[in-house]
Amino acid sequence: MIVKLCAAEDLPSTGELKSFRGGNNFEICVAQLERGELVAFDNRCPHQAAPLSAGQMEGCRVICPYHAWSWDVTTGKSDNAADPDLPRYEVRRYGDEVFIQLPSAPR
Ligand code: FES
Repeated sequence: MIVKLCAAEDLPSTGELKSFRGGNNFEICVAQLERGELVAFDNRCPHQAAPLSAGQMEGCRVICPYHAWSWDVTTGKSDNAADPDLPRYEVRRYGDEVFIQLPSAPR
């Protein structure tokens, strides 16, 4: 299911994180990478559910604010192979609006 996530003017600045309600009662975290690439992923850390939007970006990596686990947001792969991947979502900007592809079943 594809739904509107936000207006383009509401997107985070490059290198920052911002959360949005993604439907089905879960939150999406969006980051804008260098060259304007958008990435979207669960705002809930797979470890102990910290809000990743309160974390930090280092290049293409997001770092959790609670225990510093980190993931490459372009792949969802953890920097520690033993840790779970970060669920990602397709996100696209069309003109002044941003859309996201949601999973068919709630997480
Ligand atoms: S809650 Fe994110 S690393 Fe622990």
